[in-house]
Amino acid sequence: MSAEEMQTILETADSMKQVLQRPIKKVPALRGKSVCTLFYEASTRTRTSFETAAKILSADTTTIATTTSSIIKGESFKDTLLTLSAMEMNCFVIRHSMAGAPHFAARLTKAHVINGGDGMHEHPTQGLLDMFTIRERKGRLEGLKVAIVGDILHSRVARSDLWGLTKMGASVTVCGPPTLMPPGMEAAGALPPVRVTYNLREAIEDADVVYVLRIQLERMKVALFPSIREYAQLFGMNSEKLKWAKPDALVMHPGPMNRGIEISAELADSDRSLVIDQVTNGVAVRMAILYLLMGGEGE
Ligand code: CP
Repeated sequence: MSAEEMQTILETADSMKQVLQRPIKKVPALRGKSVCTLFYEASTRTRTSFETAAKILSADTTTIATTTSSIIKGESFKDTLLTLSAMEMNCFVIRHSMAGAPHFAARLTKAHVINGGDGMHEHPTQGLLDMFTIRERKGRLEGLKVAIVGDILHSRVARSDLWGLTKMGASVTVCGPPTLMPPGMEAAGALPPVRVTYNLREAIEDADVVYVLRIQLERMKVALFPSIREYAQLFGMNSEKLKWAKPDALVMHPGPMNRGIEISAELADSDRSLVIDQVTNGVAVRMAILYLLMGGEGE
């Protein structure tokens, strides 16, 4: 996605946020359109915000969860998608543990496909809502310094934020234990150029935003750090450590949070934290994406 395309989504989300804040949250923009959320992994924020966004825009929504569908009987991803597609869905929002699943789906169906998070690859709408939230509070993205801290290796959020923020002119530092850093991170090509450090203080000095990632214990096949306690000591963020960053630095987290591990409860709940703003903005950004894909769509 180009910087111009991202800018269009962010500007459309500005208008959508106004709709979201009205007493009556309903506009007819997507009347007659259907949005199906097809999630093979757990989700609270992404799925609910897409469904909320679709409903505000008057689209009809269908939720498919692995535990209550024929997926549990062994139906393949392809057959599930073809079946739902045959019901003339206009749009699928797909979360899957396999990288590339939404891309594969887009080749099978004529419906629009939105990536709701695919394996360790990308979580593009999270990246967009993060950029929207930073831009809303700081007034810009260009020239800002963002430190992304934690489990970079397993994080699709980090990858989408890296692509998005660097294209929009922010500079990004990534920080975490060496075992949670993707190999070749500093090499050009696979990911955009970023500064890599394994020292938290060095990472967040001069940062405008400290973006804390969740430790994804469920994706770790082997122990990648000695203990949770040691991780929290070296890489966990709290209000004391935030003093190393700029005086007006803000803290973000995609959720769900492991309070007391990567972020302290007092910092998560403080006025320096944008965690709740990220959730609200997730609805506005997803409304913008659904609207740009299907609003005013002709034959
Ligand atoms: N940030 C995020 O993707 O949260 P969910 O897993 O709850 O959707």
